[in-house]
Amino acid sequence: MTHALPDDLLALPHRREVPFARLTTLGVGGVCRWLFEPQTESQAQTFVRTCAREGLPWRVLGGGSNLVVLGDVEVPVVRLRFPAELRRAGDEVTAPASFGHIRLATEVGDLGLSGLEYASGIPGSVGGALHMNAGAYGTELVEVLARFRFLTPAGDLVEKAPEPGEFRYRWSFLGDGHLALGLTVRLAPGDPARIRAQVADYRRRRGTSQPLAKRNAGCIFKNPPGQSAGRLIDQAGLKGFRVGDAQVSLEHGNFLVNHGTASAAQFAELMAVVRARVLAEHGVDLEPEVEIWAAPKAHPGPERG
Ligand code: EPU
Repeated sequence: MTHALPDDLLALPHRREVPFARLTTLGVGGVCRWLFEPQTESQAQTFVRTCAREGLPWRVLGGGSNLVVLGDVEVPVVRLRFPAELRRAGDEVTAPASFGHIRLATEVGDLGLSGLEYASGIPGSVGGALHMNAGAYGTELVEVLARFRFLTPAGDLVEKAPEPGEFRYRWSFLGDGHLALGLTVRLAPGDPARIRAQVADYRRRRGTSQPLAKRNAGCIFKNPPGQSAGRLIDQAGLKGFRVGDAQVSLEHGNFLVNHGTASAAQFAELMAVVRARVLAEHGVDLEPEVEIWAAPKAHPGPERG
Protein backbone atom coordinates (compact mmCIF):
# COMPACT_ATOMS: atom_id res chain seq x y z
CA MET A 1 0.00 0.00 0.00
CA THR A 2 1.94 2.95 -1.24
CA HIS A 3 -0.94 5.42 -1.55
CA ALA A 4 -1.50 7.96 1.22
CA LEU A 5 -3.84 7.07 4.04
CA PRO A 6 -7.01 9.10 4.75
CA ASP A 7 -6.61 12.32 6.73
CA ASP A 8 -8.77 10.92 9.56
CA LEU A 9 -6.06 8.32 10.17
CA LEU A 10 -3.13 10.66 9.71
CA ALA A 11 -4.58 12.95 12.41
CA LEU A 12 -4.14 10.12 14.94
CA PRO A 13 -0.84 9.62 16.81
CA HIS A 14 1.31 7.44 14.60
CA ARG A 15 4.84 6.49 13.68
CA ARG A 16 6.32 5.30 10.40
CA GLU A 17 8.80 2.61 9.43
CA VAL A 18 9.24 0.93 12.81
CA PRO A 19 11.21 -2.35 12.70
CA PHE A 20 9.28 -5.30 14.15
CA ALA A 21 12.53 -6.35 15.81
CA ARG A 22 11.77 -3.49 18.25
CA LEU A 23 8.06 -4.29 18.55
CA THR A 24 8.24 -8.02 19.30
CA THR A 25 9.92 -10.10 21.98
CA LEU A 26 11.26 -12.54 19.38
CA GLY A 27 13.06 -9.66 17.70
CA VAL A 28 12.56 -10.52 14.03
CA GLY A 29 10.38 -9.34 11.18
CA GLY A 30 10.41 -6.60 8.63
CA VAL A 31 9.19 -3.05 8.95
CA CYS A 32 5.88 -1.79 10.26
CA ARG A 33 5.08 0.93 7.72
CA TRP A 34 2.29 2.53 9.73
CA LEU A 35 2.01 2.16 13.50
CA PHE A 36 -1.04 3.94 14.93
CA GLU A 37 -1.02 4.54 18.68
CA PRO A 38 -4.44 5.79 19.90
CA GLN A 39 -4.34 7.28 23.37
CA THR A 40 -8.10 7.24 23.94
CA GLU A 41 -11.01 4.97 23.11
CA SER A 42 -12.35 7.69 20.87
CA GLN A 43 -9.12 7.72 18.83
CA ALA A 44 -9.24 3.92 18.63
CA GLN A 45 -12.80 4.16 17.37
CA THR A 46 -11.77 6.69 14.73
CA PHE A 47 -9.08 4.26 13.61
CA VAL A 48 -11.44 1.29 13.22
CA ARG A 49 -14.32 3.33 11.75
CA THR A 50 -12.08 4.99 9.19
CA CYS A 51 -10.51 1.68 8.13
CA ALA A 52 -14.00 0.15 7.83
CA ARG A 53 -15.26 3.09 5.79
CA GLU A 54 -12.27 2.97 3.43
CA GLY A 55 -12.20 -0.83 3.19
CA LEU A 56 -8.65 -0.81 4.59
CA PRO A 57 -7.34 -4.00 6.18
CA TRP A 58 -5.56 -3.47 9.51
CA ARG A 59 -3.88 -5.41 12.27
CA VAL A 60 -3.68 -5.07 16.02
CA LEU A 61 -0.45 -5.33 17.97
CA GLY A 62 -0.40 -5.90 21.72
CA GLY A 63 2.82 -6.45 23.63
CA GLY A 64 4.37 -8.30 20.68
CA SER A 65 5.16 -11.32 22.87
CA ASN A 66 3.09 -13.90 21.00
CA LEU A 67 3.87 -12.79 17.49
CA VAL A 68 6.14 -13.93 14.67
CA VAL A 69 6.35 -11.40 11.84
CA LEU A 70 7.69 -12.81 8.60
CA GLY A 71 8.04 -9.68 6.47
CA ASP A 72 7.16 -6.02 6.05
CA VAL A 73 3.61 -5.06 7.00
CA GLU A 74 2.12 -2.43 4.71
CA VAL A 75 -1.37 -2.26 6.23
CA PRO A 76 -2.01 0.04 9.22
CA VAL A 77 -1.11 -1.55 12.57
CA VAL A 78 -2.80 -0.29 15.73
CA ARG A 79 -1.21 -0.47 19.18
CA LEU A 80 -3.20 1.10 21.99
CA ARG A 81 -1.48 3.56 24.31
CA PHE A 82 -4.19 4.27 26.89
CA PRO A 83 -3.31 5.74 30.30
CA ALA A 84 -2.04 2.90 32.53
CA GLU A 85 -4.70 3.14 35.23
CA LEU A 86 -6.50 0.42 37.14
CA ARG A 87 -9.91 0.96 38.71
CA ARG A 88 -11.04 -1.13 41.65
CA ALA A 89 -14.63 -1.60 42.78
CA GLY A 90 -14.90 -4.20 45.54
CA ASP A 91 -13.45 -7.45 44.22
CA GLU A 92 -13.50 -6.26 40.62
CA VAL A 93 -10.62 -4.54 38.83
CA THR A 94 -10.86 -2.80 35.47
CA ALA A 95 -7.81 -2.39 33.22
CA PRO A 96 -7.27 -0.86 29.78
CA ALA A 97 -6.18 -3.22 26.99
CA SER A 98 -2.76 -1.57 26.79
CA PHE A 99 -1.98 -2.31 30.45
CA GLY A 100 0.81 -4.86 31.02
CA HIS A 101 -0.56 -8.32 31.72
CA ILE A 102 2.13 -9.25 34.26
CA ARG A 103 1.73 -5.85 35.89
CA LEU A 104 -2.02 -6.41 36.25
CA ALA A 105 -1.45 -9.84 37.81
CA THR A 106 1.11 -8.39 40.22
CA GLU A 107 -0.85 -5.27 41.21
CA VAL A 108 -4.11 -7.08 41.95
CA GLY A 109 -2.15 -9.45 44.20
CA ASP A 110 -0.69 -6.49 46.07
CA LEU A 111 -4.27 -5.24 46.53
CA GLY A 112 -5.09 -8.51 48.29
CA LEU A 113 -7.09 -9.92 45.40
CA SER A 114 -6.62 -13.53 44.38
CA GLY A 115 -7.36 -15.20 41.04
CA LEU A 116 -4.71 -13.91 38.64
CA GLU A 117 -1.68 -15.60 40.20
CA TYR A 118 -1.48 -17.99 37.23
CA ALA A 119 -0.96 -14.96 34.94
CA SER A 120 2.03 -13.54 36.79
CA GLY A 121 4.49 -14.90 34.22
CA ILE A 122 2.52 -14.36 31.02
CA PRO A 123 3.95 -11.35 29.17
CA GLY A 124 2.18 -9.06 26.73
CA SER A 125 -0.73 -6.70 27.13
CA VAL A 126 -4.10 -7.19 28.79
CA GLY A 127 -5.70 -6.83 25.34
CA GLY A 128 -3.45 -9.54 23.95
CA ALA A 129 -4.31 -11.82 26.88
CA LEU A 130 -8.01 -11.23 26.19
CA HIS A 131 -7.59 -11.71 22.47
CA MET A 132 -5.82 -15.07 23.00
CA ASN A 133 -7.62 -16.10 26.21
CA ALA A 134 -4.16 -16.47 27.76
CA GLY A 135 -3.66 -19.15 30.37
CA ALA A 136 -1.23 -21.19 32.41
CA TYR A 137 -1.26 -23.81 35.16
CA GLY A 138 -4.78 -24.96 34.37
CA THR A 139 -6.47 -21.53 34.47
CA GLU A 140 -7.31 -19.12 31.67
CA LEU A 141 -8.45 -15.54 31.54
CA VAL A 142 -12.11 -16.20 30.72
CA GLU A 143 -12.49 -17.88 34.15
CA VAL A 144 -11.97 -14.59 35.97
CA LEU A 145 -13.41 -12.32 33.28
CA ALA A 146 -16.45 -10.36 34.42
CA ARG A 147 -16.81 -8.01 31.44
CA PHE A 148 -14.83 -6.77 28.47
CA ARG A 149 -15.00 -3.82 26.07
CA PHE A 150 -14.20 -3.92 22.39
CA LEU A 151 -14.87 -2.34 19.03
CA THR A 152 -16.64 -4.38 16.39
CA PRO A 153 -15.15 -4.51 12.87
CA ALA A 154 -17.49 -1.60 12.02
CA GLY A 155 -16.14 0.40 14.97
CA ASP A 156 -19.12 0.12 17.30
CA LEU A 157 -18.30 0.02 21.02
CA VAL A 158 -19.60 -2.99 22.98
CA GLU A 159 -19.21 -3.89 26.65
CA LYS A 160 -20.48 -7.28 27.73
CA ALA A 161 -19.97 -10.35 29.92
CA PRO A 162 -18.36 -13.37 28.25
CA GLU A 163 -20.75 -15.94 26.81
CA PRO A 164 -20.24 -19.62 25.96
CA GLY A 165 -18.40 -20.09 22.68
CA GLU A 166 -16.72 -16.68 22.74
CA PHE A 167 -13.51 -17.90 24.42
CA ARG A 168 -11.77 -21.23 24.06
CA TYR A 169 -8.26 -22.62 24.61
CA ARG A 170 -5.92 -19.85 23.35
CA TRP A 171 -8.68 -18.39 21.15
CA SER A 172 -11.37 -15.73 21.26
CA PHE A 173 -13.74 -14.33 18.66
CA LEU A 174 -11.98 -10.97 19.05
CA GLY A 175 -9.30 -12.18 16.64
CA ASP A 176 -11.86 -11.90 13.88
CA GLY A 177 -11.43 -8.17 13.23
CA HIS A 178 -12.43 -6.82 16.64
CA LEU A 179 -10.30 -4.51 18.79
CA ALA A 180 -10.18 -5.19 22.53
CA LEU A 181 -10.27 -1.98 24.60
CA GLY A 182 -10.24 -3.24 28.17
CA LEU A 183 -11.60 -5.70 30.70
CA THR A 184 -12.89 -6.16 34.22
CA VAL A 185 -11.78 -9.19 36.22
CA ARG A 186 -13.74 -10.55 39.17
CA LEU A 187 -11.37 -11.78 41.87
CA ALA A 188 -11.62 -13.02 45.45
CA PRO A 189 -10.20 -11.49 48.63
CA GLY A 190 -6.90 -13.15 49.55
CA ASP A 191 -3.94 -12.75 51.85
CA PRO A 192 -1.23 -10.77 49.96
CA ALA A 193 1.54 -12.91 51.51
CA ARG A 194 -0.10 -16.14 50.33
CA ILE A 195 -0.74 -14.68 46.89
CA ARG A 196 2.93 -13.62 46.67
CA ALA A 197 4.03 -17.13 47.68
CA GLN A 198 1.85 -18.68 44.97
CA VAL A 199 3.22 -16.22 42.41
CA ALA A 200 6.78 -17.05 43.48
CA ASP A 201 6.04 -20.76 43.06
CA TYR A 202 4.68 -20.27 39.52
CA ARG A 203 7.68 -18.10 38.64
CA ARG A 204 10.07 -20.74 39.94
CA ARG A 205 8.32 -23.47 37.92
CA ARG A 206 8.40 -21.31 34.80
CA GLY A 207 12.04 -20.40 35.37
CA THR A 208 13.10 -24.05 35.50
CA SER A 209 11.14 -25.18 32.41
CA GLN A 210 11.18 -22.20 30.03
CA PRO A 211 14.04 -20.23 28.37
CA LEU A 212 13.17 -16.91 29.98
CA ALA A 213 16.60 -15.35 29.50
CA LYS A 214 16.51 -15.60 25.69
CA ARG A 215 14.38 -13.80 23.13
CA ASN A 216 11.33 -15.94 22.43
CA ALA A 217 7.61 -15.75 21.62
CA GLY A 218 6.32 -18.14 24.27
CA CYS A 219 4.90 -21.47 23.19
CA ILE A 220 4.95 -21.67 19.40
CA PHE A 221 2.36 -24.43 18.89
CA LYS A 222 -0.92 -25.18 20.62
CA ASN A 223 -1.06 -28.28 22.77
CA PRO A 224 -3.05 -30.92 20.88
CA PRO A 225 -5.95 -32.20 23.03
CA GLY A 226 -4.56 -34.27 25.91
CA GLN A 227 -0.94 -33.83 24.76
CA SER A 228 1.97 -31.44 25.19
CA ALA A 229 3.44 -29.96 22.01
CA GLY A 230 6.71 -29.42 23.90
CA ARG A 231 6.94 -33.09 24.81
CA LEU A 232 6.13 -34.20 21.23
CA ILE A 233 8.86 -31.92 19.85
CA ASP A 234 11.27 -33.13 22.52
CA GLN A 235 10.50 -36.79 21.76
CA ALA A 236 11.05 -36.12 18.05
CA GLY A 237 14.65 -35.26 18.99
CA LEU A 238 14.35 -31.64 17.97
CA LYS A 239 15.60 -29.84 21.07
CA GLY A 240 18.64 -27.79 20.07
CA PHE A 241 17.85 -28.05 16.32
CA ARG A 242 19.09 -24.86 14.76
CA VAL A 243 18.62 -22.78 11.62
CA GLY A 244 21.17 -19.99 11.91
CA ASP A 245 20.50 -18.15 15.17
CA ALA A 246 16.95 -19.58 15.42
CA GLN A 247 16.89 -22.63 17.66
CA VAL A 248 14.48 -25.04 19.33
CA SER A 249 15.12 -24.28 22.99
CA LEU A 250 17.16 -26.78 24.97
CA GLU A 251 14.95 -26.04 27.99
CA HIS A 252 11.50 -26.49 26.41
CA GLY A 253 10.71 -28.01 23.01
CA ASN A 254 7.80 -25.69 22.32
CA PHE A 255 9.91 -22.53 22.61
CA LEU A 256 11.99 -21.24 19.73
CA VAL A 257 14.71 -18.82 20.72
CA ASN A 258 16.60 -16.11 18.88
CA HIS A 259 20.27 -16.11 19.78
CA GLY A 260 20.67 -12.64 18.35
CA THR A 261 20.82 -12.46 14.59
CA ALA A 262 18.07 -14.87 13.47
CA SER A 263 15.95 -13.75 10.53
CA ALA A 264 12.23 -14.16 10.03
CA ALA A 265 12.92 -16.60 7.19
CA GLN A 266 15.02 -18.76 9.53
CA PHE A 267 12.17 -18.89 12.07
CA ALA A 268 9.72 -19.78 9.30
CA GLU A 269 12.02 -22.60 8.20
CA LEU A 270 12.53 -23.83 11.76
CA MET A 271 8.77 -23.89 12.40
CA ALA A 272 8.20 -25.82 9.16
CA VAL A 273 10.88 -28.38 10.06
CA VAL A 274 9.43 -28.88 13.56
CA ARG A 275 5.92 -29.29 12.21
CA ALA A 276 6.97 -31.77 9.52
CA ARG A 277 9.12 -33.80 11.89
CA VAL A 278 6.39 -34.05 14.55
CA LEU A 279 3.89 -35.07 11.87
CA ALA A 280 6.25 -37.78 10.60
CA GLU A 281 7.19 -39.06 14.07
CA HIS A 282 3.87 -38.77 15.91
CA GLY A 283 1.23 -38.31 13.19
CA VAL A 284 0.21 -35.01 14.85
CA ASP A 285 -0.07 -31.81 12.80
CA LEU A 286 0.80 -29.03 15.25
CA GLU A 287 -1.17 -25.83 14.94
CA PRO A 288 0.63 -22.53 15.61
CA GLU A 289 -0.26 -20.90 18.92
CA VAL A 290 1.57 -17.69 18.10
CA GLU A 291 0.16 -15.13 15.71
CA ILE A 292 1.97 -15.26 12.39
CA TRP A 293 1.97 -12.17 10.21
CA ALA A 294 2.93 -13.01 6.66
CA ALA A 295 2.20 -11.08 3.48
CA PRO A 296 -0.92 -8.89 3.79
CA LYS A 297 -4.10 -10.20 2.23
CA ALA A 298 -5.11 -8.65 -1.04
CA HIS A 299 -8.79 -8.18 -0.25
CA PRO A 300 -10.13 -5.42 1.99
CA GLY A 301 -11.58 -5.98 5.46
CA PRO A 302 -10.06 -6.43 8.90
CA GLU A 303 -7.36 -9.06 9.19
CA ARG A 304 -6.72 -11.49 11.98
CA GLY A 305 -3.71 -10.65 14.05
N1 EPU B 1 7.85 -31.64 28.39
C1 EPU B 1 8.85 -32.42 27.88
N2 EPU B 1 9.79 -31.82 27.07
C2 EPU B 1 9.74 -30.50 26.77
C3 EPU B 1 8.71 -29.71 27.28
C4 EPU B 1 7.76 -30.31 28.11
O1 EPU B 1 8.93 -33.63 28.11
O2 EPU B 1 10.62 -30.04 26.02
C5 EPU B 1 6.86 -32.28 29.29
C6 EPU B 1 7.00 -31.73 30.71
O3 EPU B 1 7.96 -32.44 31.43
C7 EPU B 1 5.61 -31.92 31.25
C8 EPU B 1 4.71 -31.76 30.02
O4 EPU B 1 5.56 -31.94 28.88
O5 EPU B 1 5.45 -33.24 31.73
C9 EPU B 1 4.03 -30.39 29.98
O6 EPU B 1 5.02 -29.36 29.97
P1 EPU B 1 4.81 -27.93 30.66
O7 EPU B 1 4.38 -28.13 32.08
O8 EPU B 1 6.00 -27.12 30.39
O9 EPU B 1 3.54 -27.37 29.97
P2 EPU B 1 3.19 -27.21 28.44
O10 EPU B 1 1.97 -28.01 28.17
O11 EPU B 1 4.37 -27.47 27.56
C10 EPU B 1 1.59 -25.19 28.79
C11 EPU B 1 1.33 -23.92 28.05
C12 EPU B 1 2.30 -22.83 28.48
C13 EPU B 1 2.21 -22.63 29.99
C14 EPU B 1 2.50 -23.96 30.67
C15 EPU B 1 2.33 -23.90 32.18
C16 EPU B 1 0.50 -24.26 25.78
C17 EPU B 1 0.86 -24.41 24.34
N3 EPU B 1 1.53 -24.14 26.63
O12 EPU B 1 2.87 -25.66 28.36
O13 EPU B 1 1.91 -21.64 27.82
O14 EPU B 1 3.15 -21.66 30.40
O15 EPU B 1 1.56 -24.97 30.19
O16 EPU B 1 0.98 -23.86 32.49
O17 EPU B 1 -0.69 -24.26 26.12
C18 EPU B 1 2.20 -20.06 26.03
O18 EPU B 1 0.98 -20.06 25.93
O19 EPU B 1 2.93 -19.36 25.30
C19 EPU B 1 2.82 -20.96 27.02
C20 EPU B 1 4.11 -21.05 27.14
